[in-house]
Amino acid sequence: MSQKSERVQVGIIGAGPAGLTLALLLKRAGISCVVFESRSRVYVESRVRAGLLEQNTVDLFSELEVDDRLRKEGLNHHGVILSFDGERIRLPFEELTGGRCITIYGQQEVVKDLIAACLDRDIEIFFEAQVISVRNIESKNPEIHYHYQEVEQILTCDFIAGCDGFHGVSKKALPKDSYREYSVEYPFSWLGILAHVAPSSDELIYAYHERGFALHSLRSPKVSRLYLQVDNHDVVDSWDDEKIWSELSVRLATAGWTLTRGPIFEKSITPMRSYMIDHMQHGKLFLAGDAAHIVPPTGGKGLNLAVADVRWLADALISWFANHREDLLHSYSTNALRRVWRAQDFSNFMTYLFHKQTAHGSFEYRLQKAKFDYIRTSKAYATTIAENYVGLKQI
Ligand code: FAD
Ligand code: PHB
Repeated sequence: MSQKSERVQVGIIGAGPAGLTLALLLKRAGISCVVFESRSRVYVESRVRAGLLEQNTVDLFSELEVDDRLRKEGLNHHGVILSFDGERIRLPFEELTGGRCITIYGQQEVVKDLIAACLDRDIEIFFEAQVISVRNIESKNPEIHYHYQEVEQILTCDFIAGCDGFHGVSKKALPKDSYREYSVEYPFSWLGILAHVAPSSDELIYAYHERGFALHSLRSPKVSRLYLQVDNHDVVDSWDDEKIWSELSVRLATAGWTLTRGPIFEKSITPMRSYMIDHMQHGKLFLAGDAAHIVPPTGGKGLNLAVADVRWLADALISWFANHREDLLHSYSTNALRRVWRAQDFSNFMTYLFHKQTAHGSFEYRLQKAKFDYIRTSKAYATTIAENYVGLKQI
């Protein structure tokens, strides 16, 4: 049996960074919306993922007044360290990007702050509400069909925002011939850990080593976040703590520096992929964030793209509701995709620069080394990398 509930202006599927930020932007403009999330609140608030926020993202959170904790607990970084075969280069953001910087603040903290703000501002979020399908997107009455408290229910909206991540249902509602799909699966994955230990470096370190890539990141003055390139068939159980720390120590090593070890409290393996569709909308359905594109995490762009998408989408919806202007709705996908393609290219570049692909000393290795040597000697090349890394102001 299915039940019809009342109508809202925008139905949002997914309470990740994209869906929650969109809800706050719309609410601020007086537009009614409802958010559906298949998982529980506890689950989404503890899901460990990203950590790197671009300045654009932090600025938007400030504008939305959801940055109290972010300002207190986020760690601003004014440079990044790139390491190749044990040799390190620092890219100073101040000098190369005119004073822009990145902030380290865990995605689960972002999600907690956004959920608290939504509830505080009377935005309805249905947790453990699984959207089953999106229908009638070419009509004036598009529908979200969902399961909630064991009852199948229907919400009719003016517009639907599919912010339901890579495995969501909204993409399935786009007609197959309305977009082209691009997909690259990389022959390696990331093993990510969180450990109770003070970071061994104040700034992030991206390292190429003949045994594979390693990344030193952090979450707080007492918690380190580190990643290792592993094989796609690797499983967490084959990586005990001793093996992880010794591999990280080898790959991140440089003269006069040691990696401090500590108790590991979270381990997971993530496959690396690039995925895109080249048209993120059809009729009354608009996709945003991971629902429409995935970038490999080298470069930390995914969450930032999700937030950049919904800024375009919110502007388009607000201008439609305010004065029935359709132009921004029509150009949403084109506008959002410019930044997404830039980030796809940058993330792919960083991935191939730092991951071990073929034998040490091979042609690919020589190209990686040539790029690294060029960063060291060319301010123009270093600037290109730094400005992409901190995030382009406008694109
Ligand atoms: P999601 O966060 O995936 O949210 C989608 C939500 O929709 C989920 O809560 C899901 O439960 C819900 N949902 C799905 N299907 C349904 C349904 N049928 N009904 C209702 N709800 C549904 N990005 C960065 O910017 N910086 C980084 O440093 C970074 N590091 C990363 C490190 C790792 C290891 C990984 C895995 C990712 C990293 N990312 C990073 C990427 C970032 O985490 C994602 O790009 C980001 O979560 C995308 O946000 P989103 O809101 O689009 O999707
Ligand atoms: C993280 O801290 O989780 C992180 C940082 C930078 C990346 C990817 C992940 O490129």
